[in-house]
Amino acid sequence: MYGIVNKAIVELIHTRFGEDTWERIRGRAGLEEELFISLDAYPDEYTYALVRATSEELGLPAEQVLETFGEYWVEYVGTQGYGELLRGAGNNVQEVLLNLDNLHTRVGLSFAHLRPPSFHCTVLGPGELRLRYTSTRQGLAPMVVGLLKGLGRMFHTELHVVQTRHKEGAGTADEFLIRLQPASSS
Ligand code: HEM
Repeated sequence: MYGIVNKAIVELIHTRFGEDTWERIRGRAGLEEELFISLDAYPDEYTYALVRATSEELGLPAEQVLETFGEYWVEYVGTQGYGELLRGAGNNVQEVLLNLDNLHTRVGLSFAHLRPPSFHCTVLGPGELRLRYTSTRQGLAPMVVGLLKGLGRMFHTELHVVQTRHKEGAGTADEFLIRLQPASSS
C-alpha cells in the first residue's frame, strides 16, 4: 500500500505510545524503514506486518488495531493536505458514503497505482444505510468500522455500525448496517 498508509500507522503509534514503543514494533515487524514516503508504493505485506507487530506488542487483537487505525485515518488525512478533498466529498456522513468511489478516483490522480476499495451504499430509510465494501485485499473490514466511526466523529453524528456479511473468497463482499443520528446539542 502507499506509504501514506504506513506513515499514518507510525504516527498513530508515536503519538499514543511514544518513540520506544514504535522502535519495538518496528523491530517485531522486521522493517528496515524508519520512515515511509507518502507517494511511494510498498508491498501490502509491510502494512500487515505493522498491524501484526502492533497487535503483539500492545496485546490487542489485530481487529482492534485496524479499527483504531481507521478512525485515526479520518483526522490524519487532514494533516496531510487531503482535508479539503474529504470535506468536498459531502456535507454529512451519508453524502460521503455515497461518494466514496468518486473520492478514491480523485485520490488516484495523486497516487497513480492506487488499488482503491469500492463501496456501494444503499439508503434503506432515514438514517439507515447498507454499505457493501469490496477490496482486492483481505482482512480490512475492521478498518472500515473505524473509518465509519471517524466520519461520525467528523460530522458530530452518532453512528452505530454492525457487520452483517463477511467476505468469503472471490465474488463476495463485506456488508455493514449503519444507523445515523445527529448528536444532540444538549
Ligand atoms: C481524503 C481522504 C482519503 C484519502 C486521501 C484516501 C487515500 C487512500 C489511499 C492512498 C489508500 C491506499 C490504497 C493503495 O495503496 O492501493 C486507501 C485505502 C483505503 N481507503 Fe481511502 N482515502 C480517503 C478516505 C477514505 C474513507 C473516508 C474511507 C472509508 C470509509 C476509505 C476507505 C479505504 C479503505 C478501506 C482502504 C484499504 C484498501 C482496500 O480496502 O483495499 N478511505 N485510501
